[in-house]
Amino acid sequence: LSIFSLTVWKVTNVNVAPDGFSRATIQAGAFPGKLITCNKGDTLHINVTNSLVDPTMRRSTSIHWHGIFQSRTSSEDGPSFVNQCPIPPGMFYQYNFPVLDQTGTYWYHSHLSTQYIDGERGTLVIYDPNDPHKGLYDIDNAGTVITLADWYHAPAEALMEQFVRDGHEPVPDSGLINGVGRYKGGPAVPWAVISVVQGKRYRFRVVNIAGFAAFTFSIDNHQFQVIETDGILTVPLTTSSFEIHAAQRYSIVLNANQPVSNYWVRAPMEVAGSSSTLDKDNVKAILRYTGAPIRDPTTSSKLAADLVEAKSGGQMMEEYQLQTLINPGAPGGSGPADHVIDLTFGTLGSGIWDINGIAYASPRLPTLLQIINGATNASDFTTSEHTIILKPDEVVELRIQGSNHGITHPFHLHGHVFDVVKGISGPTNYVNPPRRDVVGVDGGGVIIRFRADNPGPWFLHCHIDWHLEAGLAVVFAEDPAGIRSGPKSNIIPAPWRNLCPAYYALA
Ligand code: C2O
Repeated sequence: LSIFSLTVWKVTNVNVAPDGFSRATIQAGAFPGKLITCNKGDTLHINVTNSLVDPTMRRSTSIHWHGIFQSRTSSEDGPSFVNQCPIPPGMFYQYNFPVLDQTGTYWYHSHLSTQYIDGERGTLVIYDPNDPHKGLYDIDNAGTVITLADWYHAPAEALMEQFVRDGHEPVPDSGLINGVGRYKGGPAVPWAVISVVQGKRYRFRVVNIAGFAAFTFSIDNHQFQVIETDGILTVPLTTSSFEIHAAQRYSIVLNANQPVSNYWVRAPMEVAGSSSTLDKDNVKAILRYTGAPIRDPTTSSKLAADLVEAKSGGQMMEEYQLQTLINPGAPGGSGPADHVIDLTFGTLGSGIWDINGIAYASPRLPTLLQIINGATNASDFTTSEHTIILKPDEVVELRIQGSNHGITHPFHLHGHVFDVVKGISGPTNYVNPPRRDVVGVDGGGVIIRFRADNPGPWFLHCHIDWHLEAGLAVVFAEDPAGIRSGPKSNIIPAPWRNLCPAYYALA
C-alpha cells in the first residue's frame, strides 16, 4: 500500500546572500533547498513549475533524484538528454515514481549543464518505520539533516566558460553548512546552529550537495557512529571524522553526552588541484546544547583530536572500513565478472575531460527516447554519446582509473548502488565491501561491481559538475530490449513525450 505525497514546487530565481554576498540564484522551493520526505514504499508525485527568468542562468531545467533507482521509471530519473528533454521555461512537469524498497538519505538537483551549482538542489529522505538501526537513536527529523555545499558568487554558466578558457576548475567563494557560510573578507554572517538536548541521541544525515568540493566533517569533543552510506545501512562504525565527496551522504549517530555548551561543527573544504584563495577554516557551524549561552564555541579541533586519540587510537574513517549491514558481498563474489569494463579518464585540453578518449557530449534526442525508437546496439548511438550496452542481469565490473590531476573524482552511477571492491585505500574485498552510489577515484584507480538488473539508460559521471559538463561521463544502455518490452514500458507518460517538442520549439 502506497501513501502518496504531493509536493508543489517551483524553480524560481531569487536573490540570496548565504555568505553575506548577494546574488541571483536558482531555488528549488527554498534555500538551500526544500527537504522532501516520505516513507519506504511511498510513491512521489513532485510538481515542478519552471518559473526561471534570469538570463544569466539556464532557464530550462530538469531534476534528478540522486540515488533513487527508478526501477521501471527511468523516464523520471532527470538527466537532460539521457532520460528526458529539459523542461522549458513556463512549463510544468510532474515527476512520478515509487521509491520501492529504498530508504535513507538522498538529494535532488538540476541535471542540466552546471545548473545545480546556481542553487537548484535539495535533500530527500526516505524514512523506514522499521529501520533496523532505530534502537541506536532518539531523534531523526528535518533538523537533523545537515547539508554541506560550495558556493560561488558568479553564475555557473560564466564560470564554465572561464573553465573552458583557462582549464582551472573555478574555486568556490565559500562553503555553506545548512545554507550559511562566510567568505574571505566578507561579513561575519551568524553561523548555522544545530540544536541538541543533552542525553539524546541524534541521527544526523550529512549530505554533500556541492558541485566541486569535498569536506572533512567533524564535531569538536564528540565521536559518532556512521550507520549509512548513500542510502545503504552499514555496520555501525565509530569515528571522529570523515571525508565526504560531492554527492555522497552519511548518516551518523551522535550521542549528546558532553557538558551543556557550544561546540564547533567543522567541515573544511577541499578543492585539491586549485590554487585556492579559499579560507578553509571558514566552513563551520555551531552544535548548541539546549541551555548553553548564545555565543560562539571556544572549543578547538585539537581538543577533539586528543579526545579521540585517548579513546580509540584516533583516526579518520576510511571508506574501506564501512561494511554493508544487509546482504553484504559483491555480485559474483570473488569470481570473474560477466562484463569487465576498463574506463580510463583524463583531460584532452582546457575544460575538456574524457573517458577512453571520448569527451561525452549530449545527443539532441535523449538516450531513452532513442531506445524507445529502437536503438539497441552501441553503433546505434553517435560516438560522442559514449553509450555502452549492458546485457540483462550480467555482473558488471568497472575498473576506473586515469590521470586525476590531483583531484579525487567522485564517480556516480545512476540507477544502481555498487560494491566498492577496491577503493582508494584498503584491500580488495568481495565479501563485505562498502556499497554506495558515489565513489571517490584518484590516480590509483578503483574497482566497483553491480548487477545489471535495472533496464534503463543510466549515466555514469564525475560529480564535479565542471567535469561532467566537460565530458567526463559515459551512458550505460542497460537491457535496451527490456526497456521497450518490460511490463510497464507503457507508463512512459504523455507529458514526458511532450517535453522534446516543447523544448525544441522554444530553443
Ligand atoms: Cu547527482 Cu548524475 O547525478
